[in-house]
Amino acid sequence: MKISAVVLAAGKGMRMCSELPKVAHKAAGKPMIVHIIDIVKQAGIKDINVVVGHGREVVEELLTGQEVRFVVQEQQLGTGHALLQAEKNIDPDSSVIVLAGDTPLLRSSTIQQLTNFHLQHNSPTILSAEVSNPTGYGRVIRKNDQSFSKIVEEKDATEEDRLVREVNAGIYCFEARQVFKLLQETNTNNAQGEYYLTDVLELIKKTGQTVNIIKIEDAQEIYGVNDRIQLAYVESIIRKRKNLELMREGVTIIDPSSTFIDKDVEVEKDSIILPFTIIEGTTHIGSNCQIGPYSRISNSQIGNNVIIESSRVNKAKIGNQCTIGPYAYLRPQSELHDNVKVGDFAEIKKSIIGENSKVPHLSYVGDAIIGRGVNIGAGTITCNYDGRNKHQTIIEDQAFIGSNTNLVAPVRVGENAVIGAGSTIAHDVAPDTLAVERAKQRSFHKRAKSIDK
Ligand code: UD1
Ligand code: CA
Repeated sequence: MKISAVVLAAGKGMRMCSELPKVAHKAAGKPMIVHIIDIVKQAGIKDINVVVGHGREVVEELLTGQEVRFVVQEQQLGTGHALLQAEKNIDPDSSVIVLAGDTPLLRSSTIQQLTNFHLQHNSPTILSAEVSNPTGYGRVIRKNDQSFSKIVEEKDATEEDRLVREVNAGIYCFEARQVFKLLQETNTNNAQGEYYLTDVLELIKKTGQTVNIIKIEDAQEIYGVNDRIQLAYVESIIRKRKNLELMREGVTIIDPSSTFIDKDVEVEKDSIILPFTIIEGTTHIGSNCQIGPYSRISNSQIGNNVIIESSRVNKAKIGNQCTIGPYAYLRPQSELHDNVKVGDFAEIKKSIIGENSKVPHLSYVGDAIIGRGVNIGAGTITCNYDGRNKHQTIIEDQAFIGSNTNLVAPVRVGENAVIGAGSTIAHDVAPDTLAVERAKQRSFHKRAKSIDK
């Protein structure tokens, strides 16, 4: 049986007090809507429809490149109305799983459990959970025999209903033909004047069919974000789960409470993450690395046996056996080959640094191609910018750049060349030569009347 997913994401999320639509807010480095799409995909569902409305350009932009179809809900008239907008996209003979865009803690295994149950029993199925504080959720009301009776929204609930702690997750599986037919029959006779998707369940029951309930163990999974306090909670849970997953896979995290690793980050085994470290986006870290303390690494590729201490690395590529920091800054498009050292207060931008080369202290290297076995002396600067354009510096294999050199780009330093300390090099230096550009040193008696002689 074919299964289509419909993710409801057209609401504004008033309680976020934001210009951004709710589902665009990030939890652990990833917008909530992207979390949910990833989870649905991991459950093996390929046909995904997203109902957008409020801030739809923002949501569509966040999902560029994802294989999803968008359905527009012009006016947000309720969850039932939202689902109905997707009817035109969905084969009436298929099953449909409905999810909300604001529940990023859901697990893909739970989606599979729901869809499998629905297909086996051939019945409409909903997810519920028992929570300690049900405020704000729809309550699942059961009959004496424990079978499903109805869902009552908080605002429509009686005192007695409100005591119920079993809540509706807002995640359901239906037969497409049936749900779209019955949605036509819902109305807005309720406290919020909205078309409630939940009303369809009562209509289904009236046809004589059973509505099944899967009550899940881990109530956290259905936690819906309505405000920024809940967003921070969800963030902390996603991070906790990620740290646990990495530790189980063989990564040492010295202090999980001060370590922030985004969900899609990969770290190979026997790497050690020291406290106060942030690893973001699609970063990949190899094995046996030592990262931190106090480092922030974003969207970068790091090899094996790399040490990064108190440094910032952004969109860079680092080979094996490299040592970075303390206090280094690697900027986008920097590529370090194996066994490179970038030391304290060195900034590297859009440069390639060859195997066994070193930039140990206080340097700026921008728009440069540096060969193998090169030593860049302390304080060396590539003068890559003339006020209008950026120019390239090329330093060939085994060159030795003396301390405090200015390399005025475009410029090339040949293989095995040596630059004397303090030189400003504005012309190419041939291989195997020594270039010095420096005024001759003069010495006078300390009490000489004049130094002009
Ligand atoms: C809904 C359920 C409630 C359940 C809760 C779980 C209904 C009537 N109530 O309530 O029983 O316990 O979810 O979190 O369904 N949306 C649209 N268009 C609309 C309205 C909403 O796309 O016109 C989207 C929202 O963007 C959101 C989702 O539907 O992603 C849920 O809407 P929300 O307003 O948060 O519903 P709740 O009041 O939380
Ligand atoms: Ca909600």
